[in-house]
Amino acid sequence: MFKSAMSVLRFKKFEKNSAQRRLNRSANIDDLRRISKRRLPGGVFDYIDGAAEDERTLEKNVTSFANYGFKPRVLRDVSDIDSSTTILGRSIPVPLICSPTGFTRIAHPDGELAVSRAAAHAEIPFTLSTMATRSIEEINQATEELSNGNYFKPRNWFQVYVWKDRELLKDLLQRAKESKFEAIVITVDTAVLGRRERDVRRGFTLPPKLGLDTIIDGVIHPSWTWGFLRNEPIRFANVVGKSSDDGSSAITLADHVNAQFDQTLSWEDIEWFRDNWDGKIVLKGIQTVADAEIAVEHDVDAIALSNHGGRQLDDAPSPIDLVGPVAAAIGSDTEIYCDGGVRRGSDIVKAICLGADACMIGRPFLYGLGAAGEKGVDWVLDFFKEGMQRTMSLLGAKNLDDLTPELIEHQNFNSTFG
Ligand SMILES: Cc1cc2nc3c(=O)[nH]c(=O)nc-3n(C[C@H](O)[C@H](O)[C@H](O)COP(=O)(O)O)c2cc1C
Repeated sequence: MFKSAMSVLRFKKFEKNSAQRRLNRSANIDDLRRISKRRLPGGVFDYIDGAAEDERTLEKNVTSFANYGFKPRVLRDVSDIDSSTTILGRSIPVPLICSPTGFTRIAHPDGELAVSRAAAHAEIPFTLSTMATRSIEEINQATEELSNGNYFKPRNWFQVYVWKDRELLKDLLQRAKESKFEAIVITVDTAVLGRRERDVRRGFTLPPKLGLDTIIDGVIHPSWTWGFLRNEPIRFANVVGKSSDDGSSAITLADHVNAQFDQTLSWEDIEWFRDNWDGKIVLKGIQTVADAEIAVEHDVDAIALSNHGGRQLDDAPSPIDLVGPVAAAIGSDTEIYCDGGVRRGSDIVKAICLGADACMIGRPFLYGLGAAGEKGVDWVLDFFKEGMQRTMSLLGAKNLDDLTPELIEHQNFNSTFG
């Protein structure tokens, strides 16, 4: 007994030191992606990294940022850079939000607890997915503990997939309220699940099913396998005991979505949310100017321009290309978040110059988590903040008011989004 406790402690210490070494040798998000690819079983990495069909949207989300060049100004006293702003009525040090990601414990046993704690450290919002593997209450407890004695109050948001079972949904909203969640993020781009062909090819299920392939994969990725086997089983933590589909048996994501999600969802349902949630409302998955305008008519607090990181409709517009046209159409009363393909602090700067209020990230923190656990997520959030502040210095912009469209030029840009 004592011997096995000692060996767990020794393993933990070894893991901690080697995670730090991996981070010391990393320069950017791509490096963390490579480390994650090495450390995670193939099916797990592909679930995180993959996207729909030919994955053109995924690639374009990232490469579209390169279509925007900077027009830097010089000699502007940049000795005191301030990257802070106000999001949903509260100040944050950098306009960045952690997007919701389902099944996060698949990347690392600490999963959503690690990401929410890292977000609280960085004083930015964390969004818990409906398909999370830690519950609303666990997130509240973990982030409250962290903020004890600290002036910063955690900012947790709850992402909602609209289930057919509205009573279950009501219950989730009530629990989010009791746990002081600040906003709900209604994802509107998932009427059915996009065809993620890497998962189809691997026959990937959640949680991963044990078969010859997964056993071999597990043997060649021992630290992931050790973490997976040593910890409690992965479940949809918010609905354990309340839904037959709680992740206790292996399912494909497509079967789960088709069985549980309400495909009749329409704009009228926003009223239902108003009646059942009195906090802020963010709509995630807006992909045209026309829908951004309808969202404003429905008086939501913010919209996230997003194609779900390319995981739903392939050949959907890149969020960064939508920012300028949407900002021109809806003005500044409704906040605009740019979600998808953000890989550097300079990408955040571009989005803000074009009219966004903040950016959201998904895969970057998952790569950090897979590469080095919670420290990896801390690293990612620091990387974005430092990169944003450095870019502002090099652009001659002291604060977010200085980040205007005049600092950006479109290269080969021909937008027709409407
Ligand atoms: C592994 C994974 C799981 C995701 N799960 C959810 C989810 O449960 N709900 C949701 O609204 N979006 C989900 N997303 C989409 C993200 O919230 C976000 O829109 C996307 O990751 C942004 O693109 P990026 O990965 O390029 O930053 C997921 C994305 C990934 C990579």
